[in-house]
Amino acid sequence: MILHWRSPLIFAHRGASAHAPENTIAAFELAIQKKADVIELDTKLTADEQVVVIHDQTVDRTTDGTGKVNNLPLAALRELDAGSHFGKDFQNEPIPTLEEALEVCAGKIFINIELTNHMTPFDTLAKKVSQLIAHFALENHILISSFHPIPLRTFHQLSPTIPIGFLAKSGPAGFLSRSWLGRAIVHYQAIHPEKSDVSPNLVKKAHKYGQRVYPFTVNAPEEMAKLFSMGVDGIVTDDPALARQIFDASHSNFYDLSN
Ligand code: G3P
Ligand code: MG
Repeated sequence: MILHWRSPLIFAHRGASAHAPENTIAAFELAIQKKADVIELDTKLTADEQVVVIHDQTVDRTTDGTGKVNNLPLAALRELDAGSHFGKDFQNEPIPTLEEALEVCAGKIFINIELTNHMTPFDTLAKKVSQLIAHFALENHILISSFHPIPLRTFHQLSPTIPIGFLAKSGPAGFLSRSWLGRAIVHYQAIHPEKSDVSPNLVKKAHKYGQRVYPFTVNAPEEMAKLFSMGVDGIVTDDPALARQIFDASHSNFYDLSN
């Protein structure tokens, strides 16, 4: 139940992706080590309908291969090196399956699974993710998010007790997620706005509707401090250790001033 989650939460965006290759087991282990509260990761389906953790629609930017993820079978994706683009210390780090990621995270950290099937919103991603969560009995440790309402609606029908976060792009593109229409279409407990859209008013309004506010992707210390001061319930960052440091510093200043 998301309202029982501590606030503010530090989300490690694609794992601790400032210091390890995004969406790899290395980045997730580092996030756990750096004491992030939540790991955010991106899921999509392979050609043979396995759930893998990768952000882009293609493997081109983050691996030594080429092609669209949903045109490649898992066996071909597993041959790729998803670490060397970040640094030679991470050579041959594979694209993880969601199953592997959940195995690493289970019992150690909350997980924010983003459904990134924007181009194929009626595929079986939501169903497969729901089944994997049930397999690991992780229902109380998961937040599901997406920019697309259809996978969120499908997921909610399958796993109605698991909380949902609606991602909102900046400006008009995110209007649906932030508006009354978004609330009517998707049953969500958290809004994940683009950081520049956050204001004290947005936070107040979300809280009025019982929603948590988790802006993304916040990497500059001054932006982190500003958002914490606006009362957000968490931030999504590539550098969870830095966010923790900034939060602790702003918190101790608060107490210093009040003493
Ligand atoms: O959850 C925040 C963030 O991950 C959404 O954007 O494109 O990095 O998945 P993206
Ligand atoms: Mg994401």
